[in-house]
Amino acid sequence: MASKETPLQTAVQPEQGAADDPMWERWKLEMPRLYDAIYYQINPIITYVDRAGHVLLERPFSANDHFSSVLEVGGGTGQHIAHVRHGFDRYVFTDIDPLLLDIAEQRTPARPGLTFEQQDATHLTYSDGTFDRLISVFNL
Ligand SMILES: C[S@@+](CC[C@H](N)C(=O)[O-])C[C@H]1O[C@@H](n2cnc3c(N)ncnc32)[C@H](O)[C@@H]1O
Repeated sequence: MASKETPLQTAVQPEQGAADDPMWERWKLEMPRLYDAIYYQINPIITYVDRAGHVLLERPFSANDHFSSVLEVGGGTGQHIAHVRHGFDRYVFTDIDPLLLDIAEQRTPARPGLTFEQQDATHLTYSDGTFDRLISVFNL
């Protein structure tokens, strides 16, 4: 059965030729400030599932655990790092979107070793073995 394509579906599939779609350009600019509302405020079920995902991922770790170098990819607005309880020497928070990265950097309290970098998770610029923990939450 053929599905009816909405403007939003067109906008979020740049690989199908929508890169010049004004709706896609508008979505990219407006999505960062709407991000937390969409995923963490408006819908109680989505909010619950998203928060539970962050908590569950960190459940195995406590303040007694320590990693030397942590890489978070696709970190968005920085929701996950508030749930990280283990220690670290270095935590590199990354996202491909500079607007989301900026929100994450502004909202996350400074911690020794924590830095923010724009990175494409499919083409990371780090050498193999740089990190001993990778965090990737709700990224497929
Ligand atoms: C559903 S959000 C999840 C964000 C965050 N991990 C969270 O739990 O709130 C997906 C994130 O992946 C980022 N992203 C998409 N493609 C990416 C890529 N190729 N490399 C790095 N980040 C990417 C988006 O900018 C967005 O912040």
